[in-house]
Formats: sequence, structure tokens, C-alpha cells
Amino acid sequence: MSMKVLVTGGAGYIGSHTIVELNKAGYEPVILDDFRNSKPSVIDGLQKILGKETELLNFDVCDTERIAQYLSKEEVCGIIHFAAYKAVGESVVNPLKYYQNNIEGLVSILKAVSKEADIPFVFSSSCTVYGEPKGQKEVSEQTAKTIPTAPYGFTKWLGEQIIEDLYHSNHELRMMSLRYFNPIGAHESAFIGELPIGKPNNLLPFITQTAAGVHEKLTIFGNTYPTVDGTCVRDYIHVVDLAAAHVKALEFLLGQRMGCNEIVNIGTGKGSSVLEVVDAFEKVNEVTVNYEFGPKRPGDVIEIYANVDYAKSLLGWQAKKTINDAVRDAWRWEKSIRSKE
Ligand SMILES: NC(=O)c1ccc[n+]([C@@H]2O[C@H](COP(=O)([O-])OP(=O)(O)OC[C@H]3O[C@@H](n4cnc5c(N)ncnc54)[C@H](O)[C@@H]3O)[C@@H](O)[C@H]2O)c1
Repeated sequence: MSMKVLVTGGAGYIGSHTIVELNKAGYEPVILDDFRNSKPSVIDGLQKILGKETELLNFDVCDTERIAQYLSKEEVCGIIHFAAYKAVGESVVNPLKYYQNNIEGLVSILKAVSKEADIPFVFSSSCTVYGEPKGQKEVSEQTAKTIPTAPYGFTKWLGEQIIEDLYHSNHELRMMSLRYFNPIGAHESAFIGELPIGKPNNLLPFITQTAAGVHEKLTIFGNTYPTVDGTCVRDYIHVVDLAAAHVKALEFLLGQRMGCNEIVNIGTGKGSSVLEVVDAFEKVNEVTVNYEFGPKRPGDVIEIYANVDYAKSLLGWQAKKTINDAVRDAWRWEKSIRSKE
């Protein structure tokens, strides 16, 4: 069997860490990425970790023709589809950009999958499909989905539905949607990590950039929520653990003789508040982060974390790393970026 795995968006934050884990597990990952939201320097970082080059297909995932051409020549044993835009706020301002890339990109790669029905397919979904769960903080795959208010979230909601509909049309397909909670941290080597282009949308890069002096202060949106300390609570998962879950997902699908379509939460099972993350960052790294409380943001979910029982039973996977590991690795990564400036 070929060990090649096609990884769309493989130069991105989660994709690059997944390349490392695939390589560690004996696979031969191939990156499909046009660097619209990543930098070619990621490829150098990967080379330092892997000690070898990774095959790179530098084109748009919406180019169905080129994907088909590649798959007609090369045997691949799996496809992991990360390539998409991910900024919630931007998706509200520019919804068509999100529908075009996230939906057209998914349909494009699924056309290839439906032609080559024997290739397992893993999709990057998100806990955003749960919206604000009514009366519960811990969500399992059985928790009702809510149509997300922002177009970004809706592309994930719809993405899962498109996969479900495709599976109904062909029960031989082997597919899995992973609902990520909040990835943070970086590879412990500090050769790859989260590389936001422009102002970060996620908490941890904002913390590390503030500690590095890029921003004067971090604004924490809301401190009067009914949570442990008034700030929002999320399930922060180390990106290396999340990357490892993709290898388990692929292995599960490769082991299936019949078709399947699975949906699995990938989180730690534990919620942490924004203030707890800031506090862990300051304590572990012995640096201070200048922050202020700002107004609540409309649409922010107050508290959510994953029930991870299904990930454990189906994939034999669970998160191993802690928030302290993640804030240490994120800071090491931020310092390595700054040292190259
Ligand atoms: N980071 C998060 O917090 C988070 C949470 C839940 C789900 N996700 C999903 O996980 C996936 C990966 O997220 P990430 O944080 O690594 O994002 P990222 O932006 O760092 O990586 C995405 C990569 O895909 C590439 N890309 C985008 N559109 C492309 C296209 N049309 N053709 C070729 N390449 C293209 C970008 O250049 C980038 O390298 C996304 O689908 C995202 O929606 C992310």
C-alpha cells in the first residue's frame, strides 16, 4: 500500500503539525497549499524537524482538475482536508470569500474522493457547529447542532452536511469529520507554530505577541460571564495532540472494510477560562502580559468543552499535553520568530 497522504492546507498551523505526526507514524505526507494564509518558511521548519523534504503541490484546492491529475498518477492512501479560511470576524464582513473558498474547496476535493472511492477522507470541522449549547457546557457528538451565526461557522456546519449527503449517495466512502475545540501551542522544537498573518484572531498568539511587545495590551472581552472568573471558557487543546488525532482518524478509516461517516470531538474534555490561560502563560514563562477587560463581544459562546468519550473509544486517542505545555511551547515559538526579525 502507498503511504502517501495528501494534506490540503498542510503548510498551515494545524496542517504543518499533522505533517510531522504523519511522518512519525511512517506515512509520506504530501502538502497541497498555495500559501494564501501561510509562509513558505514553514517548509524550512518542517525540513528541520523531519530531516528531509516534503513533497509540495503549490496550487489552489479549488482546482479540481489538477487534483484529479495528481491522483490519477499517484497512489495516495488518505486525504486530510485543512485548506480553508478561518477568521470568524472576517467571514461576517466578507461572507462570499468564505463560502467560495471553504465550500468550493471542499466540493473540489470531494469530487476527487468520490471518483477514487477507496481513499479515506478526514475533514477539519469545528466545535462552532454546536453554537451556544442550551443549558450544558460539555458537548458530545449527540448534542444538537445549531446553525452558527457567522458564515465561517456555517461553512463547517454545511461542510459536515455535504459530507453526509455524499456518503448517503455512496456508502463505500470512508469519511470522518473532526470537530476541533481550540488548538493552541506549537511544536516543542519551535521550528513550526501558529503564524498569524496580520492581527491574530486567536487568544494565544495575541498573548505571546503582547508579551513580546508587538501589542500594547491584550483585551479580554467580558469579565462578568457566569463562569469561574467571569471570562469565557474554552477547551484548549495542544496542536501536537490535535495533529496526532488525525493519524488515529486515518488509521481508523484505513482499518474499515465497509464505508462509514464518523463525527468525532477532538478536545481535552476540560474547560479553561481566558484568565486561567493568561495566568498559566505568566507563571510558566515568568513573563507578564499587559491586559485589560473590554466589552463582551456579541455572539461569543460563554462556556463550552468537549465530551471526548467517543474519540477515546473509536480512535483510542486522548490528549496528553497540558495547558502548561502549550503556553511554554507557544512562547518558545514566539521568541524564535522574534529572534529572526
Ligand atoms: N485554528 C483553529 O482555531 C481552528 C479551529 C477549528 C477548525 N479549524 C479548521 O482547521 C483547518 C486548519 O486551520 P489552521 O488553523 O491550520 O488554518 P491555517 O490558515 O493556518 O491553515 C490553512 C492552510 O490552508 C491554505 N489554504 C487555504 N485555502 C486554500 C486553497 N484554496 N488552496 C490551497 N491552500 C489553501 C492556507 O494557505 C494555509 O496554509 C481549517 O479548515 C480551519 O477552519 C481551525
